[in-house]
Amino acid sequence: MNKEPLAWNPGHYDTNFAFVSQLGQNTFDRLQPAKGECILDLGCGTGDLTARIAAEGAETVGYDASPDMIAEARRKFPHLAFEVADGHTFRGRGDFDAVFSNAALHWMTRPEAVVRNVADALRPGGRFVAEFGGKGNVGSIVSAILQVFPDAKERFPWYFPSIGEYAQLLERTGFRVLTAEHFDRPTPLEGGDHAIAVWMKMFGGVFTDSLSEDEAERAAASMTALLRPYLFDASSGQWIADYKRIRIVAVKES
Ligand code: BEZ
Repeated sequence: MNKEPLAWNPGHYDTNFAFVSQLGQNTFDRLQPAKGECILDLGCGTGDLTARIAAEGAETVGYDASPDMIAEARRKFPHLAFEVADGHTFRGRGDFDAVFSNAALHWMTRPEAVVRNVADALRPGGRFVAEFGGKGNVGSIVSAILQVFPDAKERFPWYFPSIGEYAQLLERTGFRVLTAEHFDRPTPLEGGDHAIAVWMKMFGGVFTDSLSEDEAERAAASMTALLRPYLFDASSGQWIADYKRIRIVAVKES
């Protein structure tokens, strides 16, 4: 497993991937933040959903492992608290009413440690509300990556569990799972003909970092050719990625 830190580009993220937080709205709705609650946003990115939670009157803190993402979150929302912290290693004190996470947990490849830390961060009865990539997520893109990058398996940076696997992990760690869903969420991509290159630039750095710009472009062109029959909708001229999400609501047993 590759352990190099990911170099996130917050500007590129907010320009081309605003949908990540926009599509997090349904998960936000499950959270139902209340005034005065203390809520941790784990993997907060550039802070848009943290700000939406705070706007409901909750006290928030956003954690993200990327210093660049946290710097951008602080710039956008200077009145809110953000910290560079990794889901695998942060230490909770059992005082959060809820932990929220959107589109982040699939980047954390040691889920036992993460779920343990979430449990430790929550008060008894506190809730864990999360959405992330489930089994089969971006399956076509993963398949193209495996074909184009010979060492992709060793560098694979994502955790996409089945719902049974994840619900069991939650139960083993002291949660009661209230709802668990695993659903298709076809996701239109920005970038027109360059959609796959744009996606790889944002999320596939672990596969391309050792390549020259030319090599990375050629790899993206090979992936585009492989993926066109599966992800390009000719009638609308739109690339649509095959996202599959897990959404859970769980409470820490008293
Ligand atoms: C996701 O949000 O599901 C995702 C994003 C980037 C890479 C892999 C999955």
